[in-house]
Amino acid sequence: MLTFPDGFLWGTATAAYQIEGAHDADGKGPSIWDTFSHTPGKIFQDHTGDVACDHYHRYHEDVARMADLGLNAYRFSVSWPRVLPAGTGAPNPKGLDFYNRLVDALLARNLRPFVTLYHWDLPQALEDRGGWGGRDTAAAFGEYAALMGRTLGDRVKDWITLNEPLATVSGGYVFGILAPGKQDPQLAFQVSHHLNLAHGHAVRALRASVPRAYVGITHVSMPVYPASDSEADRQAARRYDGLVNRWYWDPPLRGTYPADIVERLGPLAPHIEDGDLQLLSPPIDFFGHNSYTRAVVKDDPASALLGATQVPPDGKPQTEMGWEIYPDHLYDALTRITREYGAPEIYITENGAAYRDAVVGGSVDDPQRTDYLRLHLAAAHRAVQAGVRLRGYFCWSLLDNFEWSFGYSKRFGIVYVDYATQERIVKTSGRFFGEVARRNAMTA
Ligand code: FCB
Repeated sequence: MLTFPDGFLWGTATAAYQIEGAHDADGKGPSIWDTFSHTPGKIFQDHTGDVACDHYHRYHEDVARMADLGLNAYRFSVSWPRVLPAGTGAPNPKGLDFYNRLVDALLARNLRPFVTLYHWDLPQALEDRGGWGGRDTAAAFGEYAALMGRTLGDRVKDWITLNEPLATVSGGYVFGILAPGKQDPQLAFQVSHHLNLAHGHAVRALRASVPRAYVGITHVSMPVYPASDSEADRQAARRYDGLVNRWYWDPPLRGTYPADIVERLGPLAPHIEDGDLQLLSPPIDFFGHNSYTRAVVKDDPASALLGATQVPPDGKPQTEMGWEIYPDHLYDALTRITREYGAPEIYITENGAAYRDAVVGGSVDDPQRTDYLRLHLAAAHRAVQAGVRLRGYFCWSLLDNFEWSFGYSKRFGIVYVDYATQERIVKTSGRFFGEVARRNAMTA
């Protein structure tokens, strides 16, 4: 039996745009994701989050299901334009009311709310004024954080400022596959700095507005392994790791940018004003860790910027996303953060798998997802035994949902959603995960 530490939190994670729907209900303003998904050709079969899982209207049912499964926490995100339709200025009372009711419903069922303030749905009004390309947006984020702190802070103590800045920077500003769909590396690195400033503003705003706030940030990690033992591949892996991991972890946790990457970026490196490094690195209480897979990297002088290329996991076990199943990456990343970044408290704020599910006779059996969870929970448990201060695990995701540019074609839920009827069916993986949560332990 693999027993987890006392008080360990067991939950699922979701994001507003991926599940809420109600995209223009009750005074909500548009976000960059409304704009992006309504632009033909951006999303698989032009799917949108207009309705998604209709969680905005069905949250009660969804909360009840989590509690019935045996979970004790829930990570969700607030839609910034739902509560501040223009990004700044007058709040939308009906938007705030939704999150008040959601939090009350969670607490009534003993589910501890973890609130993410930014999971990619920037108010379109702010995008129209330059979006994350401007420092003003970082300041606006601080005001929005203060509003949410004042609104929910009597009941919510656990806060995550940003979700996966790497995804915003690379998907939104380098490859153009996530909103706002730009392909501008110069802007991208400036955006990464503004996201860090936004994080700093939000941490201070939450400390000022929430008594006994417990604040962190969520980064995705992609542990990087060299394709061979050669010195060239090892150096390539080090550079790649610098760009996808250290570039994001170092600022909030150390108040620096990695010097080797700054040098490598040359003129693409962001403009940093005096005092910024202090502003973006107030002490935080925990590190949120999202992770799904690893990267294997080889030296490739022809590849721009890094001289390193990721080797596809051909022939290796993969999920429906084409992501290699390599549970040790979780152990390696958690122990590394602990070792190299001053042993912060850590939550796994996302981990999970997409598979093609089918409803057969009214039920959904998903042995592959169940196995994925089992293997990764075992890796997390090994990390705990190695001294990692892991405090909880949030599975991605509660429900099948709008998987960004893949639309509804990728299912990550431990609860199946029939999008035509909005019927929910707990999958085998959901029952498995609930049992682990109830026992705070898993059979080896
Ligand atoms: C993460 C995102 C989350 C979801 C999963 C599959 O990068 O934070 O919204 O899309 O990937």
